[in-house]
Amino acid sequence: MTSSDRGQFTSRFGFIMAAAGSAVGLGNVWGFPTQTATNGGAAFLLVYLFMMALLAFPMLIAELTIGRYGQSNPIASLRKIWVKNKPVAAMFGVIALLTASMILSFYAILAGWLIGFGLAPIADVIGLNGVADWLVTFGTARNVSLTVLFMLMTVFVVRRGVSDGIEKWSSRLMPVLFVLFIALIGYIFTQDGAMDGLEMYLVPKWNHLNASLVVNAMGQAFFSLSLGVGAMMVYGSYLSKDINIPKTAGQVAIIDTGVAFMAGLLILPAMFVAKENGVQIFNELGELISSGNLVFVVLPALFDSMGLAGEVIGIAFFALMVIAALTSSIAMLEVPVSCLQEEAKMSRNKATKILGGTILLCSAIIAANFNALFDLVATASTVYMQPLLGVVWAVVLGWIWSRNSLLEEIRQGNPEIEQTWFWKIWPWYVKFVCPAAILIVFAYPFL
Ligand code: PHE
Repeated sequence: MTSSDRGQFTSRFGFIMAAAGSAVGLGNVWGFPTQTATNGGAAFLLVYLFMMALLAFPMLIAELTIGRYGQSNPIASLRKIWVKNKPVAAMFGVIALLTASMILSFYAILAGWLIGFGLAPIADVIGLNGVADWLVTFGTARNVSLTVLFMLMTVFVVRRGVSDGIEKWSSRLMPVLFVLFIALIGYIFTQDGAMDGLEMYLVPKWNHLNASLVVNAMGQAFFSLSLGVGAMMVYGSYLSKDINIPKTAGQVAIIDTGVAFMAGLLILPAMFVAKENGVQIFNELGELISSGNLVFVVLPALFDSMGLAGEVIGIAFFALMVIAALTSSIAMLEVPVSCLQEEAKMSRNKATKILGGTILLCSAIIAANFNALFDLVATASTVYMQPLLGVVWAVVLGWIWSRNSLLEEIRQGNPEIEQTWFWKIWPWYVKFVCPAAILIVFAYPFL
């Protein structure tokens, strides 16, 4: 396939919506507030911001640049740079696509629950109380059915390709997400108790600062910018050559961080509004209950306590979560789809269906063995694989790719870059600092 047959984002706005859509996901609206609530509020927030700016953002530029240079799927893009060792390059591409698929297989289960919680108030209103209960009660049948529904939505978008599927849907859904966010935050701040949540969020409790907080903040930053798994590489490959990559990456990172921050402004205050309304949020020891379940236990209880307004807010809130999840899951699925389509010369339609089906099967296996597998798959793929693959991409960019060829690529869309401080620092930074810092964060607990 020549590069002109490949899809391409049709506008810079479309790309930013798609890349920000990939970045903004359950990591921002669920993972980040949950971690912040349980890890000392702003103590976590500040370490996270530090990780974002100093590690994840430079790596985002790296992945986008590798992808745009390759003009191909991650396997082929890596091969094109690592010409001396193509099989090893391809192997890392395959590991990335497997990791993206692993993430999607557990992510789709979570997203399925969110669909359930969004549909339940509707079922309630039309009198289907039994259905509403089923939708929010943990069980293999519910978990699998809703995962199927979410995966169908993902396949529906990805099948249509880059501009008609990914770009179009991201550009439609992301603005809706912003509007819902602002409306919900505005509403929550009119409620009693919101200020206590704000205090918990923005006043750092430094006694929580330890090695595991730092590892978690790093994992969270990598997860949030969709790094490591080739998602940004493949989106970069659909980027036209007149785009200024560092600038565009900066905008994507700012949107992503902004949305995570906003999610904190929504969810932590909402917890304390729930407390004010009689929902228990702390146990006898004064610890937050059900930290991972915050969104699934505390918030529905809050919406329940608010009468009819609560039903509407609940639907809006879970719609927001599903939108965030969908614009991310399409990026995950695009990684293996682009590989199968281009490496095996398969039609996009067929590749999408085969991969959607296979990943769905993995989701069903995880759902059926939930306690044994869910955390394991989530932790292995996000906390370990994503940053470790980040080390590999840093090595590819810093040590394997010739500096001239890198400069030639990044200069397109930014002709003056050679004279900027960015060019003086960034290649060196990705070559030495990023891989070393990631490895040190991992090694620290063992030192
Ligand atoms: N960034 C997404 C989130 O925060 C997750 C993601 C990871 C998306 C990897 C694509 C690839 O939820």
